[in-house]
Amino acid sequence: MVLGRARFHGLDVAVAPGVFVPRRRSEHLVEVALAHVRPGSVVVELCCGTGAVGLAVATRVPVELHAADVDQRAVRCATGNLGPVGGTTHLGDLDAPLPATLAGRVDVLLASPPYVPSDEVALLPREARDHEPRRALDGGTDGLDVVRRIAAAAPRWLAPGGVVLVETSPRQAPAAVELFRGHGFEASGDTTEEASVVVARQIPIGVPATEATSSASPSSTTSACSLRP
Ligand SMILES: C[S@@+](CC[C@H](N)C(=O)[O-])C[C@H]1O[C@@H](n2cnc3c(N)ncnc32)[C@H](O)[C@@H]1O
Repeated sequence: MVLGRARFHGLDVAVAPGVFVPRRRSEHLVEVALAHVRPGSVVVELCCGTGAVGLAVATRVPVELHAADVDQRAVRCATGNLGPVGGTTHLGDLDAPLPATLAGRVDVLLASPPYVPSDEVALLPREARDHEPRRALDGGTDGLDVVRRIAAAAPRWLAPGGVVLVETSPRQAPAAVELFRGHGFEASGDTTEEASVVVARQIPIGVPATEATSSASPSSTTSACSLRP
């Protein structure tokens, strides 16, 4: 069943009841991802919800797209949205449902996970609190619980030179960058007024951190408006 449709990055995305409505601010994640993909890239979207972010990427560049979410309603919705771009969906906790055949093959691992600090969920607009599952919003005490798990899980999946792109709030970005660095990534934040994307790359063995940084794609800055709490 479809609750409605949302405009996202110029696309019409189906949103089923109980599934997080994609926010305009996440279009920044799409822009950053588009700077990192090329035809044939393997792209995995974790915490995919409707699959809007992956859909926007795969609509612009032909990639091998996988999208996963822990919520069955979200995965069903994403399956419908991603059919036209040949995306494959997976149901389960974070990266657990990804097929082992993806290990070491992922060029871009991206996510807009839940990142609202637990004690700020009550402050969100009523439509978010009433219609979106708490699991889609609540990122734990500092909002970074799922981000932390992504940083820990990512190395298994990344291809050499692969990149992790994770949306956070601008306020959380410095801490999120630090936690990726703590997992051995070269990381920086790509921030607009309303959203930040952590861009994290594994430092190749034997390459000094500074060289790894200078070979990374340049960051982009765009403006975005947002409905997101
Ligand atoms: C903030 S919503 C973002 C959805 C989508 N990325 C978007 O931008 O529209 C977060 C999503 O993460 C999913 N999620 C939360 N915890 C998860 C977990 N442990 N494993 C997989 N998905 C999870 C929720 O079900 C929800 O769909």
